[in-house]
Amino acid sequence: MRTPFVVGNWKLHKTIAESLALVTELKNQLGSLREVAVGVAPPFTALHAVAKRVEDSSLAVAAQDCFWEEKGAFTGEVAPAMLRDAGCTWAIIGHSERRQFFGDTDEAVGKKVKAALAAGLGVIACVGETLAQRDGGATFQIVEQHLAGAVSDLDAAVVDRVVIAYEPVWAIGTGRTATPAQAQEVHAFIRSWLGKQLGAAAAASIRIQYGGSVKPDNAALLMREPDIDGALVGGASLQAADFVAICRAAKPS
Ligand code: 13P
Repeated sequence: MRTPFVVGNWKLHKTIAESLALVTELKNQLGSLREVAVGVAPPFTALHAVAKRVEDSSLAVAAQDCFWEEKGAFTGEVAPAMLRDAGCTWAIIGHSERRQFFGDTDEAVGKKVKAALAAGLGVIACVGETLAQRDGGATFQIVEQHLAGAVSDLDAAVVDRVVIAYEPVWAIGTGRTATPAQAQEVHAFIRSWLGKQLGAAAAASIRIQYGGSVKPDNAALLMREPDIDGALVGGASLQAADFVAICRAAKPS
C-alpha cells in the first residue's frame, strides 16, 4: 500500500561534476526498479544540474534543508519556491545535524515544514534521539517532541507529501545500526502518534523511513519490518553500487 521511498542524503559531499556522475550511474542502474521510489539530496550547488539530468527519469531530487520565508534580508538562506525553481520536489527538514550544529529548534523545524508544504514541496521530517536520551529512557518522549514540532497540525490534503525519517542520532555515521526490532518499535510508535494527531487514514499512508548506518548488508532486514517504508541513507549513498543495492533491498517481497 505504501511505496517504499529510499533517499540518498549526500550531506556536504560532491561537486557538480561528481554529483552528475553519480546520479547518471543511478539513473542507468535504477531505471527498471518500479516498486521503490528513489531520491537524491545533493548539496545546494548541485541541485539544479542534478534535477536537469534526471528530468526524464523517476528519480526525485531533494534539498537538505530550506528556510521558511519566501524572500527578504536573510543572507545565506534558500526559500522553498527557489528549491522548486531549481527542480527539487522534496526537502529534508530537521535533520539531527541541523539541530546539533545549526541550532534548528522544534519551532524552526515546524515553520520550515509548513513553508515547504505551502510551496508545493514534499517534506522528509527527521526525528530521533541521542544515545544519552535512549540510555536515559527518553526515546519516545524525544521522538514525540520532534513529531509535535514538525507535523502536529497538518492539513489532510498535504499528508501524501509528508514522510517521516526516524534517525537515531547514535546510529548516524557510526556504523552502529538500530536493530530491525529497535527501529520497528519506534516506527510503530510514530505511526500510532500520527494516527492520534492526523487520523487513521493519514497514519496508514505516511511513509516512515529509517536512517542511521543503513548499508547493503543490513537494509533488507530493516525493510522487512512492517512500519519501515524505506531509508534515508548517508554514507552508503555516495557510492552508486551500495546505494543501488539498498534501493533494491527495499523492494516489497
Ligand atoms: P549514515 O547513513 O551515514 O549513518 O547517515 C544517515 C543520515 O544521517 C541520513 O540522513
